[in-house]
Amino acid sequence: MIEIPFTPENSYPIHVISNEAAEHLYQFTKLFWKNRLDQDYTEPEVESLIKIYRQSYLQSHLGSFRDAIVHQVKASLDAKDRPSILELGCANGPMLHFLKDHVDLDLIRYVGIDMWHAYQDDFQRHFGKESFILGDVDDFIDMELSDLGGEPFTVFVASNTLYMIEPGRVRKTIHKAAELCHNIILHDIILNLTGDISSSGAVIIPYNPDGIQVYFANPLKIFLDEAGFEIKGLWEVSHPDGKRGHAVIHGQRGEG
Ligand SMILES: C[S@@+](CC[C@H](N)C(=O)[O-])C[C@H]1O[C@@H](n2cnc3c(N)ncnc32)[C@H](O)[C@@H]1O
Repeated sequence: MIEIPFTPENSYPIHVISNEAAEHLYQFTKLFWKNRLDQDYTEPEVESLIKIYRQSYLQSHLGSFRDAIVHQVKASLDAKDRPSILELGCANGPMLHFLKDHVDLDLIRYVGIDMWHAYQDDFQRHFGKESFILGDVDDFIDMELSDLGGEPFTVFVASNTLYMIEPGRVRKTIHKAAELCHNIILHDIILNLTGDISSSGAVIIPYNPDGIQVYFANPLKIFLDEAGFEIKGLWEVSHPDGKRGHAVIHGQRGEG
């Protein structure tokens, strides 16, 4: 099912680093996204970035991602349940900007988690009834169902987020998501999906070297397997940078 012929020519160069180095890279990445360190944005630049993010789920290459989410929401409504979505790395709510054209937002429960205050401010300006938690992946890993309203979620979503996080935390994130949610939908990098490159060291790729962004290719299938989730669907996504290795993954609790 997951045999995709990636080559150095059609994808990113790959390196394997120690877990200690991965922790430093993760801390750097977190400062980059949380504190926007070394990105000297003016206020109008922040506003323009925020505006772009409102539209990010609408990009043309993300059709399979949108379909997977709408499918879960509609299936839940058909079953007379209240669809609920828990999203890590939710930015300023592009998911809700997209979903509002498909479903009455009053019918769904949504909790998003992200760590930049500018995202939170914009989210709250647009979506008063839905919840935004200002926090990072470590806060998420420590959360219990009671911190999130007490009811399990239809679906956990992380889009373009887990590849920014080192493998140890991604493993805990997937285990936590599997505890809290019936489905897991990821939009991520699948170059090391099954741990074939390495499952003990951290696999990294120069995603956008000009923008000092080096990210992780995590063994997501191994983590889903461990959490008792099976991959029910995997759709390769053609990334705007022309590189292969991006995909949408739908995981669901296995029958066994
Ligand atoms: C490329 S953006 C993707 C935003 C949105 N999910 C999308 O697909 O358009 C990556 C997001 O992950 C968040 N993020 C990065 N590292 C994180 C961490 N350690 N904990 C929580 N969120 C993180 C960033 O703040 C940012 O909103």
